[in-house]
Amino acid sequence: MSVAITVDMWVWSLDQPAHTIARHAALLNGDERARAGRFLNEGHASRFVIGRGGLRLRLARYMNIPPAEIAFTYGPHGKPLLVGAKAPHFNLAHSDGEVVLAVCHEQAVGIDIERGHRPDGDIVGRFFSVAENHAWQFLPEAERERAFFRAWTAKEALLKALGVGLSVPLSDFSVLISAHEPLRLLSAPAGAPPPSNWSLLEFAPAPGYFGTLAVAAPHVSLRWKSLDGG
Ligand SMILES: CC(C)(COP(=O)(O)OP(=O)(O)OC[C@H]1O[C@@H](n2cnc3c(N)ncnc32)[C@H](O)[C@@H]1OP(=O)(O)O)[C@@H](O)C(=O)NCCC(=O)NCCS
Repeated sequence: MSVAITVDMWVWSLDQPAHTIARHAALLNGDERARAGRFLNEGHASRFVIGRGGLRLRLARYMNIPPAEIAFTYGPHGKPLLVGAKAPHFNLAHSDGEVVLAVCHEQAVGIDIERGHRPDGDIVGRFFSVAENHAWQFLPEAERERAFFRAWTAKEALLKALGVGLSVPLSDFSVLISAHEPLRLLSAPAGAPPPSNWSLLEFAPAPGYFGTLAVAAPHVSLRWKSLDGG
């Protein structure tokens, strides 16, 4: 059996007092400040500042440089990446007031979180694969919300690990549709590692939220981190 790789997991709230927002804003570069300035809603701008500033604060620990000196580059579909020979892989997701960050030295990672509420309209019919739609038909109504958010976050996390985001249709690959059975990839997108290589690990970043981490490695252990220790 191959050795498990470790993924550090960070979670923090995007809703912070004014003095924390000001402290995080001072860590941003010119492009990030411009992006914050383009939000029409002040609350959304503050959440962006806490997300990006918090990302810099945490990644600085791995890079051993001040947070403001972290340099990002971007993949062809916009995935932010760190620059440098010893730079770890990372990925971030936010939903409402929560943000999660995964950091891993060995492998690219993808992460997604969603706050659960009934999915709008026929999202499964419009976006999921034929195999997933087939499985969906047999799910009891009471299990559907949970099964939907588990599958959705798993699918998005996998596309974020690959760095392609939603440029690859969600219907091009399948995960197990279930409210309770362990998440599993059943068929992979073209060109991606085969299903047996992937780990899809679910977690709840806060009450009412669903989250999945996707890594193209068969054995993965999570290490939860906080800024005050750990
Ligand atoms: C990546 C994507 C799925 C994120 O969806 P979302 O549910 O709106 O947002 P999430 O909270 O899950 O993730 C957002 C974070 O993912 C990261 N991210 C952005 N693009 C990414 C990508 N292609 N792959 C992985 N991660 C990505 C960023 O850290 C981003 O944080 P930020 O908005 O604070 O900068 C979606 O934005 C997407 O499909 N992007 C690709 C679009 C594309 O192909 N563009 C081509 C031209 S750039």
